[in-house]
Amino acid sequence: MPYTVPKLTDYSAPALEKAANECISACTAESAQVRTDADLKSFRDRWMARKQGILTQINDRWLKDAPKEAKREAGIQVNALKARITELVEAAHASGAPALDNECLDISLPGVRRPIGAEHPVVKTSNEIVSVFGKLGYSVAEGPVVETDYYNFEALNFPPDHPARDTQDTLFIAGQQSTPARDRLLLRTHTSPVQIRTMEKMRPPVRIVIPGKVHRNDPPDASHSPMFHQIEGLAVDTSITFGDLKGTLDHAMKALFGSSVRTHFRPSFFPFTEPSAELYVTCFICGGKGKRGYDPCRPCKQSGWIEVLGCGMVDPNVFEFVKDNGYDPKKVSGFAFGMGVDRLALLKYGVDDIQLFFQGDVRFFEQFG
Ligand code: DAH
Repeated sequence: MPYTVPKLTDYSAPALEKAANECISACTAESAQVRTDADLKSFRDRWMARKQGILTQINDRWLKDAPKEAKREAGIQVNALKARITELVEAAHASGAPALDNECLDISLPGVRRPIGAEHPVVKTSNEIVSVFGKLGYSVAEGPVVETDYYNFEALNFPPDHPARDTQDTLFIAGQQSTPARDRLLLRTHTSPVQIRTMEKMRPPVRIVIPGKVHRNDPPDASHSPMFHQIEGLAVDTSITFGDLKGTLDHAMKALFGSSVRTHFRPSFFPFTEPSAELYVTCFICGGKGKRGYDPCRPCKQSGWIEVLGCGMVDPNVFEFVKDNGYDPKKVSGFAFGMGVDRLALLKYGVDDIQLFFQGDVRFFEQFG
């Protein structure tokens, strides 16, 4: 017979206690019968449901109906009983395990397969370049993407209104008309400003590479993106020559593209280096022939050469900005270089649209896993 709440006639302490004990043993017995989730739910509802649950009935029959003089004792007993019943119901909940008696768990089923991510091809290329220079003793420096005009241009020997500024379509932060020109904020157009930031912090000698994001006001197309990546390099010491620059970069290109590539320097211009050069390597797609079988080689535009980076000897005017930190242009010399990582990743992986790198289509990235 399932337990029902008796009406009380005797409200004395011993009578109340007896009734409470019967109630607790009924609840204990029922809790032992709980097997499944469904059992658990009906057990809880039967005892705890606000409207017709046993605890509510007890409240009505034993407390509300109690004569005035018995109310206090009844209150104490009913409260203790409620606490005990609540405990029993919660314990049945917490053990939860009885469900296993009826259900089975097939431990031979395969688990949930989580796809393993792949390193982004641009990050991977960047890391490879950094590691080549790491083995030559270079350390890594980083700097802010939101930069001041001073670091991005002025301290790199781009005087105000210098036409060389026009070669980099700069994205300025709006609303800075009242800020002094050199403090105006912009999205850095190259990683070169970190050369100055590093020399402000570290005294010579330095050998660093600086990977990072840069922005230019270029509309997106297959070979341009308003956001792209560069790696900058800087070496400063007491007697660094253009020969060191050539030897270092020739070694790095062979380490990156294979020992059979040849390098070639063509004169160029950058405000922060003098002399300046562009570095070309023999096309690692066609091996420098300009043709693939009878087909023209597209990546090198049939020339057999691919432009990889800009470089040069640090202009003494640049050292002037950090002179007080040990960079007296009469005493130190150095070389610098900067390369576009995305373009190298495109060539390396034979991808023909830079936009694919930044659209986030998993099907594209899975190919690099
Ligand atoms: N900052 C240049 C650019 O973005 C690239 C560059 C050229 C960096 C020559 C250098 C350098 O450090 O020496 O076009």
